[in-house]
Amino acid sequence: MIEAPVKEPRELQGDDGVSVELVSRTFRTRRGPVHALASMSLRARPGEIVTVVGPSGCGKTTLLELVCGLQLPDSGTVRCAPAVLMPQRDLLLPWCTALDNAGLALRARGVGRAQARATAAPWLERFGLAGFEHARPAELSGGMRQRVSFLRSLLAGKPLLALDEPFAALDAITRLQMQDWLIEVLASEPRTVLLVTHDVEEAVVLGDRVVVMSGRPGHAVAEIEVSLARPRRRGDPAVVALREQVLAALGVSA
Ligand SMILES: Nc1ncnc2c1ncn2[C@@H]1O[C@H](COP(=O)(O)OP(=O)(O)O)[C@@H](O)[C@H]1O
Ligand SMILES: [Mg+2]
Repeated sequence: MIEAPVKEPRELQGDDGVSVELVSRTFRTRRGPVHALASMSLRARPGEIVTVVGPSGCGKTTLLELVCGLQLPDSGTVRCAPAVLMPQRDLLLPWCTALDNAGLALRARGVGRAQARATAAPWLERFGLAGFEHARPAELSGGMRQRVSFLRSLLAGKPLLALDEPFAALDAITRLQMQDWLIEVLASEPRTVLLVTHDVEEAVVLGDRVVVMSGRPGHAVAEIEVSLARPRRRGDPAVVALREQVLAALGVSA
């Protein structure tokens, strides 16, 4: 087998953004059509972190799957850089070590086992997983599992990351640590990011821009620029004010 070259993280190019224009997606079910998205539009510039919030069932996961090419829209257009989806439920293989789970994206690209391990190993250390290379997912904490999962997505070598509620299953303290960690990683490994969350504060702390979606069928009802320096303090009055703006757009009073 020819070994695929491992693409080093590179500078993002001008076309590494996302453009979703007036996309609609309806699921045909036995109980009738489910209109998941209707005229949903969203853009991300190369290297931008766009966070997406919206009520449960408004089509956020559907949106990410459309962006990653796992679904096709019924109408509208999706134009974006090659993307990798980090699904909501971590899909680590329980019988594989952290090292092999992290290297899975490389293996999927035709890289041999030894080379995949050699490539992934230094990353595990950078991700605070030194000493856990040979641990199985059941032996890792929730935060560690998410980091392995994220590393796998990063090693896929795609300019666009679609993260579906990446920290939702973590306890509050781990979630805050992981938010800081994500920003640190992205500072040295630039990617365009679409991050779905139901946590409004997380959307403001992480996003360069927050896209607020309506209830089903989902479409964008507001876009809020977050031009605050990083790191952002959660109690900062500017963060609190933006959080209130997002809540208002969601139709929830703070
Ligand atoms: N494959 C599918 N078949 C039928 N209905 C689906 C399918 N995927 C999602 N849906 C429905 O589409 C709507 C949007 O789902 P989803 O994108 O998962 O929302 P969210 O991620 O915002 O909670 C929901 O009502 C969901 O039940
Ligand atoms: Mg979802």
